Amino acid sequence: MMEPLAQSEARLRHAFAAAGQGHVFRFWPSLAPPARERFLAQLESIDLALLARLVQEMKGGAPVAALDLERLAPAPFIALPDTPGARRGESRARRAGEELLRAGKVAALVVAGGQGSRLGLEVPKGCLPIGPVSGCSLFEWHFAKVLATRLRVGADIPLLILTSAATDAATRSFLADRRCFGLPERDVLLFRQGMLPAVDGAGRLLLSAPDSLFLSPDGHGGTLAALVREGVLDELERRGIEQIFYFQVDNPLVKVLDPTFLGRHVLARSEMSSKVVIKRDAAEKVGVIARAGRKLGVVEYSDLPRDLAEARDAEGRLLFRAGSIAIHAISVRFVRSLHEAGVRLPFHRANKAIPCVGDGGEGGAIVSQDGCKFETFVFDALPRARKALVVETDRAQEFSPVKNAAGENSAETARADLVRLFRSWVEAAGFRVEGGQARIEISPLFSLDQEQFVRRLRKECLLCREGLLLS
Ligand code: UD1
Repeated sequence: MMEPLAQSEARLRHAFAAAGQGHVFRFWPSLAPPARERFLAQLESIDLALLARLVQEMKGGAPVAALDLERLAPAPFIALPDTPGARRGESRARRAGEELLRAGKVAALVVAGGQGSRLGLEVPKGCLPIGPVSGCSLFEWHFAKVLATRLRVGADIPLLILTSAATDAATRSFLADRRCFGLPERDVLLFRQGMLPAVDGAGRLLLSAPDSLFLSPDGHGGTLAALVREGVLDELERRGIEQIFYFQVDNPLVKVLDPTFLGRHVLARSEMSSKVVIKRDAAEKVGVIARAGRKLGVVEYSDLPRDLAEARDAEGRLLFRAGSIAIHAISVRFVRSLHEAGVRLPFHRANKAIPCVGDGGEGGAIVSQDGCKFETFVFDALPRARKALVVETDRAQEFSPVKNAAGENSAETARADLVRLFRSWVEAAGFRVEGGQARIEISPLFSLDQEQFVRRLRKECLLCREGLLLS
């Protein structure tokens, strides 16, 4: 039986007052009945015990680190192959990965729940145009890679998309309007991460409106809990899927479902594997994969002490140079075991200016207030893995994220990097590209990598020294 509104109000008032958060009811007298009902439902979803813990940790000021910074050492990783033996190892891994894909044991998972605040976007980041010629969106680009891989291996490969309250509705309608870019609807699974409240310096909850708390996505670490909560993990197990290829929506260069990486991951019986690029310089804003004792983990750029970020080895290379590009292979069994063991990832704090309702008057005015948001990170599962593998990849082939509206790491630099990559494929096929300004785009549906591109061109075209003659 439904609890009467007045009763839930009294219960929640009591609970929030006992938690030192009674101020959230300050606009209650001015709220209309439907707003009151919505507000109570939102308050109901707040885990007050967790909030108390987060506030206590915040006030204590202790750094949040999955690895002990005192014992930090560089992580071992498989470097790019540069010997015949290493290349043979790579081919073996590729075959194992292809087999896994052909057996329908892999799902792709893209995290797209972030608010893209640095980009100042009105739409989810995945809707951003990225194709250097076609102008197609990041979503379409990633979908095309999944579709092309399905066609190549002849197996179903679901694509899981992590959304949040901030991106879910817009993502669903964007994809529905475009018929999921040709992927069957049953294989496109959207699932929502959780939301967490933000607090001011005194640990008091902030309101985004008189009838609403300020909430933000709980970080991509929320993927793991959401997989379980939304029934997606059950569905993967039901379909016999064993591995998840995880990546971020903001990087158009990702080799989605890369068979070599997946093969290395399964051959090593790794529970969670990660790709890295060599950091460009000490100040580059990427996390580094490091180890403390036997545990591997990512230390965010903002948490890595400067002396460690700048330390060099005997050969003059950065000591902590394994830059995380947020591409992981994660075993389904590992996700299940974390859940069964009740593992909770650590909550990181981000101090931000938060738009919220001021204290005075009717509460209509929105002010910007210094506050603290809480997030978990998926890579904090790495130290929990009994076996974790780190693999180097080539930055030019696989990493050019869109983080900012302009300048470094923007859509413009990502497009330029795509063109540079495609130009290298065209040249590898024996063509010359005239003019530095030429825009080139090769659809993933035509080829997923240079090897396939060269093979297809040789097969479908008549090559001549001066140019391209389609046969
Ligand atoms: C992230 C990594 C960093 C890595 C870099 C590579 C973190 C904390 N850091 O940095 O180690 O070197 O990418 O590009 O992740 N997202 C969600 N839900 C959320 C928050 C984020 O789905 O609640 C998604 C975003 O949509 C995006 C991705 O996670 O696809 C990365 O988030 P972002 O905040 O851009 O991370 P960075 O700080 O750039």
